[in-house]
Amino acid sequence: MAFAIMCSGGDAPGMNPAIKKFVDYTYKLGIEAYLIYDGLEGLIDDKIKKATHKDVAGILHMGGTIIRSSRSKRFFEYEYRKKAFENLQSHDIRGVVVLGGDGSFRAMDKFSSEFDINFVGVPSTIDNDIHGTEYCLGVDTALNVIRDALDKIRDTATSFNRAFVVEVMGRDCGYLAIVSAMISGAEICVIPEVEFQRENLEKRLAREIKDGRNYILAIVSEGSKKTSEIHQWIQDKLGLETRVSILGHIQRGGNPTVYDRMMAFDFTINAIDYLTSHNDSNKVVVYNKGEFKFMEIEEVVSNKYELPQHYLNAINYLD
Ligand code: F6P
Repeated sequence: MAFAIMCSGGDAPGMNPAIKKFVDYTYKLGIEAYLIYDGLEGLIDDKIKKATHKDVAGILHMGGTIIRSSRSKRFFEYEYRKKAFENLQSHDIRGVVVLGGDGSFRAMDKFSSEFDINFVGVPSTIDNDIHGTEYCLGVDTALNVIRDALDKIRDTATSFNRAFVVEVMGRDCGYLAIVSAMISGAEICVIPEVEFQRENLEKRLAREIKDGRNYILAIVSEGSKKTSEIHQWIQDKLGLETRVSILGHIQRGGNPTVYDRMMAFDFTINAIDYLTSHNDSNKVVVYNKGEFKFMEIEEVVSNKYELPQHYLNAINYLD
């Protein structure tokens, strides 16, 4: 019997420790381990290789993923999914651990409804936007990258009497923006989930500027698509010279933090244990209140992630 691991969709720090744990733990259990390179594209093209310890030596501290990832258009077509299944069969692979986000899980849901393949998904995306789990691999590292950038931007903002509008990633989810705003003490936070109310904020900040405030930090989630609007508003209505900084893909890189390494180990061990004891697995490992559980993939992909209320409240404190 053999199991395989693959990454799909946007890479996330923590994937490499998960891959290493996958190889070490399957070896300990006497199960053959395979690495699927280049995500779903590699699954279609049979870039599937039996893993050795050498493949995963010295990778634990590295960001990104040594087996690479992809977003596959071909996987939407049945003929390519069939090819992917035949490739797995030819290696006698019975279970696959998929490190990915909800797009990848949707693809696996379709795949496993058509073919006899077991898989367990490990939520891995810096966006933290997957229904059913309070944590996705990579989020802590991304937040630390953002924290570091914001601390530095604040240094220059305060030294130069400027406002900064900093755009952070997160796709349609405001999680990264709101947590970054809280931990950096930003004055403004704009996320897709909450309508941006300027009036109170404008009055309060204008008063503070009159009293001597000389800088403003505004965090804007990419999904709100309001970066230019906020830039213009601060400049026109609050009269501070304003610069925009789009943090971009640096948020996806960096050595996984202690937390992401530990979570990678736990997510992976849980996924493998599940695959070894179930023959009809179509699940995602979810983490809530310190516990790992398994949720049907269908439930995960057919629901939208909702930001916890206490985070939404934090936005209200800002005005
Ligand atoms: O899902 C992770 C993510 O980094 C999002 O935050 C962002 O919107 C998107 O991927 C960027 O995608 P790409 O790497 O294809 O530009």
